Amino acid sequence: MTDTYAVFGNPINHSKSPYIHRHFAEQTGEPIAYTKQQVPEGEFEPAAETFFAQGGKGLNVTVPFKLDAYRYAARLTPRARRAGAVNTLALEPDGTVLGDNTDGIGMVNDMHNLGWELAGKRVLILGAGGAVRGILPPLMEQKPASLTIANRTLHKAEQLAKGFADLGAITPAGFESLEGQQFDLVINGTSASLGGDLPPLPESLLAPGACCYDLMYGAEPTVFLQWAEAHGAEKRADGLGMLVGQAAESFYLWRQIRPEVIPVITELRRKLSAKKGA
Ligand code: ATR
Repeated sequence: MTDTYAVFGNPINHSKSPYIHRHFAEQTGEPIAYTKQQVPEGEFEPAAETFFAQGGKGLNVTVPFKLDAYRYAARLTPRARRAGAVNTLALEPDGTVLGDNTDGIGMVNDMHNLGWELAGKRVLILGAGGAVRGILPPLMEQKPASLTIANRTLHKAEQLAKGFADLGAITPAGFESLEGQQFDLVINGTSASLGGDLPPLPESLLAPGACCYDLMYGAEPTVFLQWAEAHGAEKRADGLGMLVGQAAESFYLWRQIRPEVIPVITELRRKLSAKKGA
């Protein structure tokens, strides 16, 4: 029996999720079919209803529907509740739909695969939007020495600090107040890099041996990772590993088997580089 899964988004054309999940299915021998579906804005709920009514077993949900999926789920995992957003829906044996958010654990697992230590580190996150909300719960579980969230609009960083205070101390900041501070790990969670922009960062932000991670990825290093290289970051990574990592955790939720991520990341990176050279 082949079980059916899909990713819902808009746009969805360039989604790599079908490729990733087919790779996982081959690797694990799990009998699944995985498609992508462009859902018109405002029509998430009926589209999801139809999908599950037709026997669908699980969905990945991407921009702009993560909040719709959060509302749609009958039950939420604690990390999805905290994130306020859902990227994975799973049909439960009792017929209800569970909502999870695997983005944060995908990022943390990627950092572990990269050999980056998080415990005891001074961590700075740039940005305070939806993507950052998603990574906060699993990141804070790693017990960094300190966590600072810097955002263009300070009050959004303050809101996050307040909202997640029970998980640990978060210091909200404006970019200008980073002057004179140093961090061991800087994570770019702003959407600025989509437009080739970079928040204004002090020259000496990175401590010796610092790691820099961008939630975005591309064929070329992102502007943030270019900045990181120019400012002495010892290790740098973009969000391709996080993309595969979140997919692996969705697959695990659906199939109770955790696939190998490294071969898939390697293959996707090869394809991205080939495109660049084309
Ligand atoms: P996402 O779902 O990708 O997180 P979002 O919720 O719209 O998208 O959040 C975008 C984040 O990028 C915000 O933190 C935003 O800062 P503001 O809260 O001040 O808007 C940040 N951002 C976007 N463009 C930026 C830019 N040019 N410089 C600095 N920060 C930027």
